Amino acid sequence: MNTFKPVLTEHIDQKDCHTLSFYKSIGGYTALEKVLTMNPDHVTQEVKDSNLRGRGGAGFSTGMKWGFIPKDSNKPKYLINNADESEPGTFKDRLLMNKAPHQMLEGMIIAAYAIGCHTSFIYIRGEFYQEYKLLEQTIAEAYDNNILGQNILGSNYSLDVVIHRGAGAYICGEETGLLESLEGKRGWPRIKPPFPAIEGYLQSPTIVNNVETLSCLPHIINRGASWFKSIGPEKGPGPRLFCISGSVNNPGVFEEPMGVSLKDLIFDRAGGIPDDKQLKAVFPGGSSSAILTANEAMDVMMDFEELVEKGSMLGSAGIIVMDETVNMVQACLNIARFYAHESCGQCTPCREGTSWLVMMLTRLINGGGKPGDIDMLFEIADNIGGLIDFSKGSFGKTICPFGEAVAWPVRSFVEKFKGEFMEYLPQEKVVA
Ligand SMILES: Cc1cc2nc3c(=O)[nH]c(=O)nc-3n(C[C@H](O)[C@H](O)[C@H](O)COP(=O)(O)O)c2cc1C
Ligand code: SF4
Repeated sequence: MNTFKPVLTEHIDQKDCHTLSFYKSIGGYTALEKVLTMNPDHVTQEVKDSNLRGRGGAGFSTGMKWGFIPKDSNKPKYLINNADESEPGTFKDRLLMNKAPHQMLEGMIIAAYAIGCHTSFIYIRGEFYQEYKLLEQTIAEAYDNNILGQNILGSNYSLDVVIHRGAGAYICGEETGLLESLEGKRGWPRIKPPFPAIEGYLQSPTIVNNVETLSCLPHIINRGASWFKSIGPEKGPGPRLFCISGSVNNPGVFEEPMGVSLKDLIFDRAGGIPDDKQLKAVFPGGSSSAILTANEAMDVMMDFEELVEKGSMLGSAGIIVMDETVNMVQACLNIARFYAHESCGQCTPCREGTSWLVMMLTRLINGGGKPGDIDMLFEIADNIGGLIDFSKGSFGKTICPFGEAVAWPVRSFVEKFKGEFMEYLPQEKVVA
């Protein structure tokens, strides 16, 4: 029996759940009241102790990241809420913004307070117009009620929040591409180091956190780090929003504890596969994660560490399910097309390699396959995103992790479904 009680989405079915009055009626902004009486370093320590890891994709420790903000810098500090949500198969931040925007805003103010920030941004995906308009209302309500602006809730702390709309580029979800875009430039990722915590927005210390990560913060403050750590695996705990799409009867966003089994998510929460078809493969963490075969998927927990051990990643927890009717060469081409379109073009391996993948896969599908094509697909993928050897770290050859985000899924398609790719190669003539 599933005994987990949702944390982030507990109230999303209730009327007017997006309003300030509703949020206050369920205890909203009490965590902020508490935080405003705390030493900012203690807030960071509490978040560190909770073992909260980022929900945007990389899964880095949130408290540790905040700790990188230099204490001795007299430059302004910035907090950016990454609401770009462009990863294919991912649609959880949109739900949080629509249904629980004050929970997210409270999380932002807590994070901003902890790092000493007085101007914070929400970088929202351009296509999210409805959410943008709603967040404008959320922020106006907060200003009207002294939750934003000067001397928040009568304290000495002041914070302004500005919404910035993106213009539809996937790469602007990558934190340094986002920073460039926010500065009014083309969204070209930066070489790291320096990391944004040292040199981010306008060369000042900056923290970029995802919507879901920030939404966890009021709960950590109210219920404590130990409570949070007790949900799921200790090294990567907490509630998590899993987006399930593709070949399932009941697609949607499901809140479950970290470490839930992928099998339960697909066959219980999402109602299994339509028409009793067989499961073929799954992206466990958005389209940038290596796919799992049906056998692998039936035996995996949705945990940061375990998915890395299986040669994939939890990423944005966007689960895309493929059934037995899916043509894997076509699916691989679909993915390659997306990345070729979205490559920012700065790095040669990524810019050229993604286009080559599309050309080769298109040729294969159109009957023009050549004997060396499979090896060539591996070679191109490895030249973009390096060889996958998780025990030694990645061997990225590009400025940003986009290269790996192309190489890993493409490589996994060819490796795990090689037979299907081979069927597109010229067959040896059989002499009677
Ligand atoms: C190509 C690419 C796209 C990304 N898109 C997003 C995104 O849409 N939203 C997001 O929160 N993080 C995205 N990320 C991850 C961010 O770079 C960053 O790690 C994250 O916003 C940090 O927040 P967190 O620590 O709370 O996860 C993307 C990363 C890459 C490489
Ligand atoms: S890896 Fe691709 S997306 Fe990232 S900076 Fe290089 S060209 Fe741009």
